[in-house]
Amino acid sequence: MSLDQYYLLGRSGLRVSRLALGTMNFGIGGFHASYGKTEDEARPIFRRYLDAGGNFVDTADFYTAGESETLLGKLIAETGTRDRLVLTSKFTNSVDPGDPNAGGNGRKHIVRAVEASLRRLRTDYLDLYLLHTWDRITPVEEVLRTFDDLTRAGKIRYAGLSDVPAWYAARAQTLAEAHSLVPMINLQLPYSLVERTIEAEHVPLGQTLGLGITAWSPLAGGFLTGKYRNSGKGLTGEGRLSGEGGVGYEWTDQQWELLAKLESVADALGVTMAQVALNWVATQPGVASAIVGASSAEQLSSSVAALDVELPAELRAELDAASAVPLGKPYTMFTPQYQSWMINTGVRLGDKPPGYHPVVRNWVPENQG
Ligand SMILES: NC(=O)c1ccc[n+]([C@@H]2O[C@H](COP(=O)([O-])OP(=O)(O)OC[C@H]3O[C@@H](n4cnc5c(N)ncnc54)[C@H](OP(=O)(O)O)[C@@H]3O)[C@@H](O)[C@H]2O)c1
Repeated sequence: MSLDQYYLLGRSGLRVSRLALGTMNFGIGGFHASYGKTEDEARPIFRRYLDAGGNFVDTADFYTAGESETLLGKLIAETGTRDRLVLTSKFTNSVDPGDPNAGGNGRKHIVRAVEASLRRLRTDYLDLYLLHTWDRITPVEEVLRTFDDLTRAGKIRYAGLSDVPAWYAARAQTLAEAHSLVPMINLQLPYSLVERTIEAEHVPLGQTLGLGITAWSPLAGGFLTGKYRNSGKGLTGEGRLSGEGGVGYEWTDQQWELLAKLESVADALGVTMAQVALNWVATQPGVASAIVGASSAEQLSSSVAALDVELPAELRAELDAASAVPLGKPYTMFTPQYQSWMINTGVRLGDKPPGYHPVVRNWVPENQG
């Protein structure tokens, strides 16, 4: 598998690479400045992604205080790749803390945000526009109407959601379908071997309602590369997580133990820990693409090669077990075992061809009784 093999994103005709390029670290301003990259550092990363056949690029107005979009606009223009790329950006975070309408998901801000993103990116349309984070305030109908208007106006081609509760995404998609508004085709969510919360609600939601999942921080910001060590009070090692980029992260004993398992799987396969971690997430049910970050072209090449790794079922099962997040009731009542015991007695679910029934994975029933 390489980046010139494409998946359809959700229930749509949009073809995207199995690894997207994250550009949160392109630029040296704002919130992500501590691990930001200059233009000269970002250019080879971007070009390496294009050379590998990649077509899916992720940014946001907020990244490095707008520098990510500005830099990306320049890199896209100088490579003449605008039309072949699936260019994604996002709105929600405030671009002017003094102005209450300069953030959030209201119509006034969305329209202002898209115009500013288009200017910085030097383009007249975005392929995919995402609500960055649920703001708890704006009615979902307002967001849907605005997405629909932007699509009709030719400013965006497709719409999606990032970092929202599953119920919100389900309501958005159902209302969009019922009122023939532009549907959501993408859920951008945190997903990796150390962050599997989305499996309870978001993954089956995406599979059922046609939203392809794009996994952000698939290497947990570098934790899963194995380059950090547990210092007892946090972590040590060279990389963004041992600097300001690691503030707010806490690593549990289970996560450190998982790293040991990941290392043994990588050794058994003769590949790097990062490649196993990326392959695992990119091949999970419901995942259309994993959004990788890189500090150098070499890191990116190593990540691209992760798609060529064959992860045998027994080793995947070991990783699944080491990284599992136990879920309580009612989730334990949706397991195939529970259902066939309590509900589907006499119904033979196995009679249908593989893939006929949605696959529900990662249930960890604590108590089958
Ligand atoms: N929607 C959202 O809320 C949201 C949130 C976060 C991110 N995102 C998107 O997801 C993208 C990726 O996020 P991320 O950067 O956190 O992803 P990630 O892939 O989990 O982490 C990338 C970082 O890991 C380190 N790394 C990567 N490959 C490595 C290797 N082979 N060896 C050693 N270290 C390696 C690098 O950091 P160092 O070299 O500096 O250590 C690199 O910047 C972002 O750019 C953004 O587009 C979205």
